[in-house]
Amino acid sequence: MAKQAKVTLERTFTIGEVDKNVFGSFVEHLGRGVYNGIYEPAHKEADEHGFRKDVAELVKELGVSIIRYPGGNFVSGYRWEDGIGPVEFRPKRLDLAWRTLETNEVGINEFASWCRRTDAEPMLAVNLGTRGIEAAVDLLEYCNYPEGTYWSDLRIRHGYRAPHNIKVWCLGNEMDGTWETGHKTPMEYGRLAAETARAMKRFDPDIKLVSCGSSHTFMDTFPEWEAETLAHTYDVVDYISLHQYFGNEEGDTANFLARSLETEHFIKTVIAICDYIKAKKRGKKDIMLSFDEWNVWYHSKLRDDDEMKYNPWQASPCLLEDVYTFEDALVTGLMLITFMKHADRLKIACMAQLVNVIAPIMTHTGGGVCRQTIFYPLLHASRYGRGTALWPLVASPKYDSKDYSDVPYLEAIAVMNEEAEELTLFAVNRCLDESINVDCFFRGFEDYSITEHIAFESENLKAANTVANPDAVVPYSRRDSYVKLGKGEFSIEIGKASWNVIRLKKTTVNVY
Ligand code: AHR
Repeated sequence: MAKQAKVTLERTFTIGEVDKNVFGSFVEHLGRGVYNGIYEPAHKEADEHGFRKDVAELVKELGVSIIRYPGGNFVSGYRWEDGIGPVEFRPKRLDLAWRTLETNEVGINEFASWCRRTDAEPMLAVNLGTRGIEAAVDLLEYCNYPEGTYWSDLRIRHGYRAPHNIKVWCLGNEMDGTWETGHKTPMEYGRLAAETARAMKRFDPDIKLVSCGSSHTFMDTFPEWEAETLAHTYDVVDYISLHQYFGNEEGDTANFLARSLETEHFIKTVIAICDYIKAKKRGKKDIMLSFDEWNVWYHSKLRDDDEMKYNPWQASPCLLEDVYTFEDALVTGLMLITFMKHADRLKIACMAQLVNVIAPIMTHTGGGVCRQTIFYPLLHASRYGRGTALWPLVASPKYDSKDYSDVPYLEAIAVMNEEAEELTLFAVNRCLDESINVDCFFRGFEDYSITEHIAFESENLKAANTVANPDAVVPYSRRDSYVKLGKGEFSIEIGKASWNVIRLKKTTVNVY
């Protein structure tokens, strides 16, 4: 027996433009993220710069718009100058964040150039853990000043004549966390971030700056951290960061799939705090949200703790190498839907991370590469989610799980691309044993027809793709899943536990 639900759209009920940077990612000097991840000079697929072409192809396919770098926890002890100039003179350092050996073969120049070659924009984090204003503005000048100063001329001497022109900068990383080198109180961070921001904006008022929010909602200092730090940084920053990871440690899938309700709550709380500070300051601008770390992360945690404790100081060890299951992909799909529902305020989101380290792309050193399950929702959202988000009225049956009540089985968002005359409905069915028949009423889209229904479903919720078996679970084009009810109206079947992309296009002949 199928469940019944209803989705109503009205063309003029818009939420906002989905910023292309919502489909971002993150590369940290951690494990095999950089070395033996994006960069593997000895690999047969390496390009003339030592970066793997097969990996870069998948990054391009994914269409990630912006890539945060170089950390993460790593950045809080990083000396960016170690990663510039002739590689043979670059120092090897101990990275205290992940207790590994950093060889510095890849630095800002190599990363920024690789990013541009993969059609993505770099987003740089500065170290506000062990360093501060001077190192941040030196880095900004090295990256962005055209020529004629100490740092810009040094960049040119290093072989990079054109400035990297990096527009988005993070003021440190997770400075509320005691695990962070140089962790700070909100007062200490707020002051340092504000003064660093002021100096950076004196260099270029057009750069965009991200103030550190809480590392997670479970931090004792959340949400006071946001209020106190923003009270210092409001005038000089553009975004505040949010980080969130979920796991299914208890093996309770119904509860796991409900976790995205916390994402919703997190976003609403941070917006409320930004608006409170705006009111307090009699401010004019809205602070936007940068959800610059998000994903499922738990499969590898215990193994990693042991590795860092008992086998420290290795160069690019296997750390945080979660092998993602099908149900993990559903959670990432639910998080993406939640982001698009807040298109008016959430303007950056970076899936953490990109390659090998809690990542949609997995490689074997010296071997192949595969798309993990979580690759697909991000691919679809990045490909079809560009445009204006429309507010969907969703009437869905609900369920209670261990930690959540009134969880809607159906979660959905629609994005209209006016230029291409396309409309896409993204939908997840959280129900594990029944499909849902969804009656759709799309007002203002009477002359649109369904062109494709992409479904991602699996009888085995624990199915995973690996380099050895890369296509164990892949999306497919569903046929005969819908019937026409009227103009702009149809009924569509959404399979149990599935991610769906329902694509419509304006047609002269209505063929629902
Ligand atoms: O993405 C992995 C780590 O998670 C990052 O280094 C840190 O910012 C977060 O705690």
